[in-house]
Amino acid sequence: MKNIRESWVSRLAFIMAAAGSAVGLGNIWRFPYIVGTNGGAAFVVIYVVIIFVIGYPIMTTEITLGQKAQKNPIGTFKALAPNTPWWLVGALGVLAGVVILSFYSVVAGWAMAYFFKTLSGEFTSQSDTLNIFLGHIGSATPPLLWHAVFMALTAGVVGLGIVKGIGQAVKYLMPALFVLVVLLMLRALTLDGALEGVSFYLRPDFSQIRAQTFLDGIGQAFFSLSLGMGAIITYGSYMRKDDDVPASAAWVIGLDTGIALLAGLAIFPAVFALGFDPEVGAGLAFITLPAVFAAMPLGNLFGALFFLLLTIAALTSAFSLLEVVVAWLIDEKGIHRLKATLITASIIFLLGVPASLSMGAVELNLFGIPFFDVLDQLQEKFLLPIGALLTSLFAGYVYKAHHVRTLANEHAHTLKLGAWFEVLIRYIVPLAIVVILITGIYATYFA
Ligand code: TRP
Repeated sequence: MKNIRESWVSRLAFIMAAAGSAVGLGNIWRFPYIVGTNGGAAFVVIYVVIIFVIGYPIMTTEITLGQKAQKNPIGTFKALAPNTPWWLVGALGVLAGVVILSFYSVVAGWAMAYFFKTLSGEFTSQSDTLNIFLGHIGSATPPLLWHAVFMALTAGVVGLGIVKGIGQAVKYLMPALFVLVVLLMLRALTLDGALEGVSFYLRPDFSQIRAQTFLDGIGQAFFSLSLGMGAIITYGSYMRKDDDVPASAAWVIGLDTGIALLAGLAIFPAVFALGFDPEVGAGLAFITLPAVFAAMPLGNLFGALFFLLLTIAALTSAFSLLEVVVAWLIDEKGIHRLKATLITASIIFLLGVPASLSMGAVELNLFGIPFFDVLDQLQEKFLLPIGALLTSLFAGYVYKAHHVRTLANEHAHTLKLGAWFEVLIRYIVPLAIVVILITGIYATYFA
């Protein structure tokens, strides 16, 4: 049977799926903590500017290229620039999909395990949450089992396809995610002493703003919007050709940023009200928050809801990561969707095994760092920035910025791309990415 290429049932379905891809672990734990330690509202203002200047042009570009070509990332570049090496940009995206999902699924597995740990009341105000966390991620079997469960869930949905699988799943999961964030925010804001947390989170402190703040903001914007690896190209390829691109891109960006901001309001007021340290960074979600919830009335329930939120956010991002690879196998290799999903999910699961074990169960270092961090740094420092850079250069100079703009505007009703779009995609976006690429590599490996 020949695979017939599906389309989203509506523009809303695309927006939910793409927002689902964008809203992920990056929004729920990384964004709040970056805001909290980088100047609060001052950072939010900068971040919003970055989103408009850099995030929005790439988002519209990726959607437009996919919508035009109606193909996976490799097929998209092949169709738009035949007989050139540009398809390699798509290949980089497919590789990034495998790499990111392999460790993303491991972290999502931690969230699932923590859902049950909090619900069952494992954490009390006496708990040593740091060592419980290190114990969990450093053990062999439970994290691997949860990693397997998470990959199976992801594959189950992706295997059902765009309409019955991803489209249906996000239709329920995205509203659920929104309700959960709002619920957790209301719980946090109604605790005694919550306002101090709001002020820590949102009080503008311009003295915290330095060059690095802008770089952090740009990096966060890319990661959070799922840009630079063809996920949005792939989702755009399932859009109907007469769907409005500029407005859809604006919706996705608005939802992603809105939910990230709400997540901060669900976390910091609670952290402050219960007297915890807000500046712990990466350990916030799994080390500080379990203690925070343990100290809160009905904390078991709200803690479980928080980890449910994290799981749902990760799941809808995982769909798009897997779909990039699956779409490539379907479009270019003619493999049936179910088979493609099964093969890809298995490979990703296997790559995740050493990543998970390297967190403490087994000494698994590469270049002197745990395998998990190798994968993480590979995508953060190289795959995503290089992918986004090449995509913007392709759009700006090869396919031509005015061509992308015309295509994007073809069925636009309210919002249209102006000449500013061409300036941004040709000059500002590539320049900004080159700067974060170089400083990122320098700061990590040479400083
Ligand atoms: N946007 C996701 C988050 O905020 C992470 C992510 C980065 C991603 N690149 C992606 C998800 C590509 C899906 C596809 O957590």
